[in-house]
Amino acid sequence: MREILLPSGEAVPVLGIGTWGMGEDPGSAARETAAIQMALDLGMSVVDTAEMYGNGAAEELVGRALAGRRNEAFLVTKVLPHHATLRGTVAACEGSLRRLGTDSIDLYLLHWRGTVPLAETLEAFESLQRAGKIRHWGVSNLDVADMEELLRLPGGQKVATDQVVYNLTRRGIEFDLLPGCTGRGIPVMAYSPLEQGRMLDDPVLVRIATEHGVSPAQIALAWVLRQPLVLAIPKTSSPQHVRECHHALDVRLTPRDLADLDRAHPPPTRKRALEVI
Ligand SMILES: NC(=O)c1ccc[n+]([C@@H]2O[C@H](COP(=O)([O-])OP(=O)(O)OC[C@H]3O[C@@H](n4cnc5c(N)ncnc54)[C@H](OP(=O)(O)O)[C@@H]3O)[C@@H](O)[C@H]2O)c1
Repeated sequence: MREILLPSGEAVPVLGIGTWGMGEDPGSAARETAAIQMALDLGMSVVDTAEMYGNGAAEELVGRALAGRRNEAFLVTKVLPHHATLRGTVAACEGSLRRLGTDSIDLYLLHWRGTVPLAETLEAFESLQRAGKIRHWGVSNLDVADMEELLRLPGGQKVATDQVVYNLTRRGIEFDLLPGCTGRGIPVMAYSPLEQGRMLDDPVLVRIATEHGVSPAQIALAWVLRQPLVLAIPKTSSPQHVRECHHALDVRLTPRDLADLDRAHPPPTRKRALEVI
């Protein structure tokens, strides 16, 4: 598994698994658990969840899936913006730890920016780090101006990632946020790398996939992962799809493939506000 370095110097795999929507239907729990465990088996050890997903149900499912295998995962979860005060963040983190059945989160993210000052949330993250309850902290859905504000705060340079939407049909971050982060050594975590499945019948994607003898999802992931310092967290509840996503790491897109994809989905030529899903 290819790895990238967090600003702390710790290596994490470029491919993990998302869990939005998991844990909400008891009838799907066994399959979802198997998908997360398959991801661990294949080294896709970044497991992304959030207190928001299913009001904690996704975290509970992740906790059950990781039982006995906690040390194989790089566990990411998120605090809701309206919880992200000094005391609220600590309380939210305690709730996540309980649902996840662990005593430490590898990476704790502010899910998006709300009205709580970034400095206050950062202070809460630092106190959670000192208490050993989180190992790294980061943010999600922050555009350039918010990132710059964060980076100016004392300790702000320790931000481990900005998790944002990035896929072939949503390339806005290539204009400024992506080079701004990666140029400072801050990895970008690409969410919805498959556009929640909506892009998988894109004709150019389908043609290139056919030429490579792989699936459109594999081309879509290979395209996201062509960037240095970008990691992707596709969500799938299917162990078979987990295997398929894993094989995206073997796909080598040619300059012609990339040019064809650029023609179909041009890179941004001006600033666009960060999209949020
Ligand atoms: N920070 C944020 O604000 C934020 C926002 C959105 C998402 N996220 C995180 O990012 C994760 C991924 O994003 P997402 O869930 O929005 O969407 P996504 O990963 O782009 O797409 C998920 C969809 O793709 C399908 N899929 C997965 N692998 C496939 C394959 N190999 N072939 C065909 N279809 C496949 C899944 O269906 P099956 O389950 O049937 O395979 C599911 O319907 C989330 O789960 C969450 O952890 C974060």
